[in-house]
Amino acid sequence: MRVDIVSIFPEYFAPLDLSLIGKARAGGLLNLTVHDLRTWTYDVHRTVDDTPYGGGPGMVMRPEPWGEALDALAPPTPGDRRPPRLLVPTPTGVRFSQALAHELAAEPHLIFACGRYEGIDQRVLDHAATRMPVTEVSLGDYVLFGGEVAVLVIMEAVTRLLPGVLGNAGSLDEESHAHGLLEAPVYTKPPVWRGHEVPAVLRSGDHGRIARWRRDESLRRTAARRPDMIAALSPDSLDKRDVAALGEAGFPVPSADMAK
Ligand code: ADE
Repeated sequence: MRVDIVSIFPEYFAPLDLSLIGKARAGGLLNLTVHDLRTWTYDVHRTVDDTPYGGGPGMVMRPEPWGEALDALAPPTPGDRRPPRLLVPTPTGVRFSQALAHELAAEPHLIFACGRYEGIDQRVLDHAATRMPVTEVSLGDYVLFGGEVAVLVIMEAVTRLLPGVLGNAGSLDEESHAHGLLEAPVYTKPPVWRGHEVPAVLRSGDHGRIARWRRDESLRRTAARRPDMIAALSPDSLDKRDVAALGEAGFPVPSADMAK
């Protein structure tokens, strides 16, 4: 996968040299380049912002440097070539999710445009959208200073899904959000620590019981912490034991009679 990141703070991306992302880059699974937006400025102050039309607080990023950056990184593609996908982190975007991470992991080329101040002149995104798919994406309902940290988050979520990055691909299938539920708690040795015991079932060697226990814990945890996720579950994905576990967690499933 090719990734280009454009920002006025290229130094923000130093962590992308570390750990498994760094390894994916070194191993050629991820071809990632960080670009300084000011490369595409020509005045002595290397200006990237100006006051907003219509008034109001703060500054807006001017379109010219962004236009040139995107021309350089995503030249108009011939009809038979797939254009890159442009991602713009902003609190006004669609919510980032594991499903979107999977979608992005299947793209051959991503470009991230990191806005600062009050955001990027809308015409940059409107013009880019005539050449490539553009997704404005938000990490959640809060406001950051700029898109840089959001890009670090998104790249971490996406890189772990690239084939060959994780040693044990099975862990992707079991982790939180893989099936619309949070993952069950995990334990390792020693079996007793400061008076707290590892649940006996996990030491039983009975794989059927262990799977059922994990499923129950997943349902209990999700019901307690993320009732919105329980409400979004398809009744077809629940068996009778699931419905019972949810009932015990004080979460009656309205369509319980539909469960297998
Ligand atoms: N930039 C500023 N706030 C943001 C948020 N919540 N998500 C993504 N990018 C942002």
